[in-house]
Amino acid sequence: MSKLGLSNKKDGLSNPNTFKGAAIHDKITFLRTFMKSPKEVGSIIPSSRHLAKRMFKRIDWNNVSSVVELGAGTGVFTKYLNQLIKEDAEVFIYEQDAELAELLKRNYPNYYHRKQAERLFQDLHDAQIGQVDVIISGLPFKNFSQELRDRIVNEIERSLKPGGSFIAFQYSLQMKSQFEEVFDEVSISFEPLNVPPAFIYRIKKKKQ
Ligand SMILES: C[S@@+](CC[C@H](N)C(=O)[O-])C[C@H]1O[C@@H](n2cnc3c(N)ncnc32)[C@H](O)[C@@H]1O
Repeated sequence: MSKLGLSNKKDGLSNPNTFKGAAIHDKITFLRTFMKSPKEVGSIIPSSRHLAKRMFKRIDWNNVSSVVELGAGTGVFTKYLNQLIKEDAEVFIYEQDAELAELLKRNYPNYYHRKQAERLFQDLHDAQIGQVDVIISGLPFKNFSQELRDRIVNEIERSLKPGGSFIAFQYSLQMKSQFEEVFDEVSISFEPLNVPPAFIYRIKKKKQ
């Protein structure tokens, strides 16, 4: 149960029929958003459930009390996060597109909702959260300017607790060298069942 007395777990998303209808509607909304801002959205359809499942593996969710999701889109990852996360955990959802952000707010009213990933550190500070255990990213880094990439990677590094995990997917290995420059532990896996197939970067911040 959230501080607001709301529970995400009881919303219409738990009904498989509602889900099917929502999935088609979400795909149309996503495509519309892509046509509005192709660079920021970076893909014409949301990620597959196969990719989502793989993103959430290998984290001990019972020991996670704070999570950030960057670039949540229609909430494919948020759905899994909501099933795995402890009810009293703090969850921050970032989405720059206003229509998608409204959808996420409606479906997950007890999470914090924010707009720009590049404001991450300041937002967490303002909400008196400080650093978090896990950051999940759906951001299309490849489409960003190098300046924006540097800024967001720096925000992520500052916002993770020592020993915290950062998990991101990309359609290429382009971010490998930049992530390796900033973090000590970077491992990469591959999910073929996604359009397009995707690489998953699993990163751990050093324990101090
Ligand atoms: C490739 S889509 C991924 C959506 C979703 N996570 C998925 O896997 O289906 C990238 C998302 O990041 C959002 N986005 C792009 N730049 C952003 C930024 N600077 N801050 C927050 N969200 C951003 C886009 O609007 C889009 O919804």
